[in-house]
Amino acid sequence: MFERLESVIPDPILGLMAAFRADPDPRKVDLGVGVYRDDRGETPVLEAVRRAESALLARQSTKSYVGSAGNPAFNEAIERLVLGDEHEARLTARVRTVQAPGGCGALRLGAELIRTASPDSLVHVSTPTWANHSPLLSGSGLRLERYPYFDPATGGVQFDAMTAALERLPARAVVLLHASCHNPTGADLSPAQWRELLALVKRRQLLPFIDMAYQGLGTGLEADAFGVRLFCAELPEVLCAVSCSKNFGLYRERTGAAGADATFSQLVRIARGILSMPPDHGAAIVHGILADAALRTAWQGEVAAMRQRISGLRHEVVKQLREHCPQRDFSFIATQCGMFSFFGIDTAQVRELRARHHVYMTDDSRINIAGLRRENLEYFARATAQVLAG
Ligand SMILES: Cc1ncc(COP(=O)(O)O)c(C=O)c1O
Repeated sequence: MFERLESVIPDPILGLMAAFRADPDPRKVDLGVGVYRDDRGETPVLEAVRRAESALLARQSTKSYVGSAGNPAFNEAIERLVLGDEHEARLTARVRTVQAPGGCGALRLGAELIRTASPDSLVHVSTPTWANHSPLLSGSGLRLERYPYFDPATGGVQFDAMTAALERLPARAVVLLHASCHNPTGADLSPAQWRELLALVKRRQLLPFIDMAYQGLGTGLEADAFGVRLFCAELPEVLCAVSCSKNFGLYRERTGAAGADATFSQLVRIARGILSMPPDHGAAIVHGILADAALRTAWQGEVAAMRQRISGLRHEVVKQLREHCPQRDFSFIATQCGMFSFFGIDTAQVRELRARHHVYMTDDSRINIAGLRRENLEYFARATAQVLAG
């Protein structure tokens, strides 16, 4: 049966990671990685996670299954974190949450829910969007279309072109939005743009599907949830995929949630069909942190430290680039949010940076700002200057 299957070409990012690991040069810089890195270049276990995990191990009395919807206490804690304690959608029980294995699991559950309700739905995603959106959403049979989003000329959002395109969509079209820290561009909607988009979504009767993978890593835990909170307050139907991978540093524990209004039983049915039961460990840790005032405060401090490190690096790298590459304006990097930016150089230049200067980024020039370190900012800016000079 399987001899007719062709092997799949490995993801280029895996090749990039292997090339970085094999590079013996001590100056090497990894900007291709998709995870947070601290000043030592590590992706540490957060202290709050360590403490919650020890407490969990000491008190856990069974490894018996959780239900298909996951841990109800975790689901409630995530609703509170995303929407805030007093959000109307929570107080009136309009929001329903199912635990998912990471944001990816939540995106897939959401896609399956859309397909169940409306099998011919088109999902409209930003140009560009995170590469994994395509396999996750189209894997459940949904077709993807693109709307204009990133403006390479300004490093911001082409909001007029975006809204003009969305204005033409038929009722019930699905629009995938990034809550904050847009991956891969770092270009986010302002609160005023979220409000304008809300009016459009209402008028055109579109279904927003919001991917929230970086709450707390952009402007703040509250500010990064602005769009989600607004849409959930004002619209009858919103789908939301939440990830705890970045803000809790729980990547491999596969922790996330899918939330939607009044579709709980369908989401549970879908979860049962794909996963049977979600993994428990990461969700139990997140609940342990959010339910304990001291741990929660400690965690908030750690999220703030990650956020401030990224935003500090954004400003410092712009300073270094201004000094070493004055002919080119990189100031957009400081106005963007979250871990990622498009550096805006061409593929030949990306490859030259890699070959001559041991600076690794994906061919489309997406850089993970957290991959930089204070001590190599100048090296990075000088290397860029040499490559730009040709
Ligand atoms: C835009 C976006 N959505 C969702 C995710 C989901 O991540 P995970 O499944 O690891 O929680 C990521 C992770 O990189 C992401 O960048």
